[in-house]
Amino acid sequence: MKRALEQLGLRALRQIDPEKAHGLALRALRSGLAASAGPISTPRLRTQIAGLDVPNPIGLAAGFDKNAEAIAPLSLAGFGFLEVGAATPLPQPGNPKPRLFRLREDAAAINRFGFNNDGMETIGGRLAAAHASIPVGINLGANKTSQDRAADFAQVMAHLQGHVDFATVNVSSPNTEKLRDLQGPAALAALLDGVMQVRGNTPVFLKIAPDLNASEIADIAAVARDANVDAIIATNTTLSRDGLQSHHAQEAGGLSGQPLFDRSTRVLAQLSEHTDIPLIGVGGISTAEQAYAKICAGASAVQLYTALVYGGLSLVQDIALGLDRLLKRDCFASVQEAVGSRRADWL
Ligand code: FNR
Repeated sequence: MKRALEQLGLRALRQIDPEKAHGLALRALRSGLAASAGPISTPRLRTQIAGLDVPNPIGLAAGFDKNAEAIAPLSLAGFGFLEVGAATPLPQPGNPKPRLFRLREDAAAINRFGFNNDGMETIGGRLAAAHASIPVGINLGANKTSQDRAADFAQVMAHLQGHVDFATVNVSSPNTEKLRDLQGPAALAALLDGVMQVRGNTPVFLKIAPDLNASEIADIAAVARDANVDAIIATNTTLSRDGLQSHHAQEAGGLSGQPLFDRSTRVLAQLSEHTDIPLIGVGGISTAEQAYAKICAGASAVQLYTALVYGGLSLVQDIALGLDRLLKRDCFASVQEAVGSRRADWL
């Protein structure tokens, strides 16, 4: 019954402006109207990411709950962990609308939000009050008008570290001009140093772009190791527009969803050749097979966002339970055993 309602709701939401639809979906979640499977777990799915215990390795990617408004209902949707944000020091409105586009024929989306968010004070209040039985992390961002973007990351980290289970340094969003320049080795090392100094005991993750070449990937792995980063998330959205059919294909912004799957999985596999740091695979996951493929390519856990726009939140339990069946089929006793087992397929 809930599934039939979900499908009806999704169809209705697809008729209206995508950003409005997302706002309505979040409101429905907060009022308890969404599928609530509870955290899903089996002995095979239960695992650890950078020392954090998770009931399963399927996480919510950053950007879905930018302002940490729906943590409690999201924590019951079947995910093993959540990432909310991005949060910047000061609230900011983001780019002019429209700034979110559905590419239905491509099962994709393009967004150029530009870190619209309520700011770290408000988001911190919500994180402090939130109840979740699964780990919750915050995606760190920088204000558009900041004179010192690197310092912004440390400022948000310092403010929120007591209220989260992990924090992600996001220098890979394409929607804040020059933000990706902070992925260069010297800039990144300095930025991470600032964040590490104020993190307390909070694990720090680093999120990278899919539009990096082999030497840039190697450089980032080295900087992450030297900085003692706890996990690397691969990847954010892409600037590539290869092979798209939808009429919004040429909108500016970051592309997510199906067309990102291969590219982001290749970056993940390449990265895993360079490092023992746990990796989280993101980009284009909409099935259990795709979640499993990222794990076999080298990911200890995965995250998703865009597929939820098309498939609804009930997709989360389908993917988690489907992953359990795939692990069983291939005689893996745990997620951990499967990590990197087919990396060579992606190199
Ligand atoms: C995002 N993503 C994102 N990532 C991030 O690190 N900070 C952010 O604030 C956002 N915001 C955001 C908004 C919207 C509308 C989308 C679609 C995406 C990127 C997201 O976390 C993920 O890395 C990519 O979307 C790829 O995964 P999917 O969507 O293909 O599963």
